[in-house]
Amino acid sequence: MSTEKCLSLTSQKKFVMAVINSRTREKGKIIIDYDKCIACGLCVAVCPDKSLEITDGRLHESEKAVFGCIGCGHCMTICPHDAIKIEGRETSGRDLFTLPPANLFPDYDSLYALLSSRRSIRHFKEKEVEQEKIDKILKVASTAPMGIPPSDVQVVVMKGKEKVRAFSEDFAAVLRSSRFIYSLLGSRMMKPFVGKEISELFSNFLNTLVSSYISNMEKGTNKILYDAPLAISFQTTLYTDPADAYIPATYATIAAESLGLGSCMIGGVHPFIKKGAKEFKKKYGILDRFSGGIIVIFGYPKYKYVRGVRRSFKEVKVI
Ligand SMILES: Cc1cc2nc3c(=O)[nH]c(=O)nc-3n(C[C@H](O)[C@H](O)[C@H](O)COP(=O)(O)O)c2cc1C
Ligand code: SF4
Ligand code: SF4
Repeated sequence: MSTEKCLSLTSQKKFVMAVINSRTREKGKIIIDYDKCIACGLCVAVCPDKSLEITDGRLHESEKAVFGCIGCGHCMTICPHDAIKIEGRETSGRDLFTLPPANLFPDYDSLYALLSSRRSIRHFKEKEVEQEKIDKILKVASTAPMGIPPSDVQVVVMKGKEKVRAFSEDFAAVLRSSRFIYSLLGSRMMKPFVGKEISELFSNFLNTLVSSYISNMEKGTNKILYDAPLAISFQTTLYTDPADAYIPATYATIAAESLGLGSCMIGGVHPFIKKGAKEFKKKYGILDRFSGGIIVIFGYPKYKYVRGVRRSFKEVKVI
């Protein structure tokens, strides 16, 4: 695409703020190849930001944009003429790839078969997870919807049982140092400040959980990350919806299942280190301040389940 044939209109708009996060503070630069564009309007129709417009038969960046190009790439992935590219917000035309053929898609029955066979796995064979499989898990996880691009989800891979155990031991030490907060007395004292529900959560659940984490670790049993051969932490910066971490984590469990690995979500770490634990976080590459975080453990299952158990939603309402 030669410079004179392309038009970047981003500079013409001065009043639209970009959606910022820890990776970007700018909106995407829209580059249109007018030699190729036939002004069919497909990109205009799919742009979630109303960043594009056709006036007098010519495509251009719109003054009615909501945030300014968010770099989602919908325009460049739908254009039948390869006439539009986005640069910036950690994306570019170089990220485009040919879609896999539809005959490779799992149908409903095979997807249901895989997902309904999944159990949370907490016992693992003494076998490492191969790097090739870790790469495949991360490749699938990165396809998850993760809020406004570019994703602000940070991933930390703890590879090997020793690393996972060291993390768990250090985490137990962090809990030990803040043991009082989770004690019955601590939860009673905080009740006037945090309210009945949180106080009850502390006294009925977190108190027992923390005691179990600490006492089991002292006996050499890892009830935190279960001595898995692999643990991956997904976390979001304060710019981002905490849900952005949980969705790739969920995709990772599905990818693991397809690779013959078991997995288990571990939500019992991040809430305890949301505040403080600076040294611990630094040691393990965990963000000092995060909006949400979850760990998933992986490994080859030691035991095989022979049947499933039907699950239900609290309620499904049609309105
Ligand atoms: C967000 C989330 C956090 C979880 N955290 C933990 C955890 O900290 N420790 C654990 O042993 N299991 C954890 N689990 C696993 C659940 O306990 C598990 O899904 C439940 O026991 C049902 O078992 P199933 O997944 O085999 O159906 C978590 C699950 C979810 C969805
Ligand atoms: S989809 Fe492609 S050809 Fe159609 S208007 Fe957009 S850039 Fe032009
Ligand atoms: S990348 Fe997304 S927001 Fe930007 S112009 Fe294309 S469709 Fe619109």
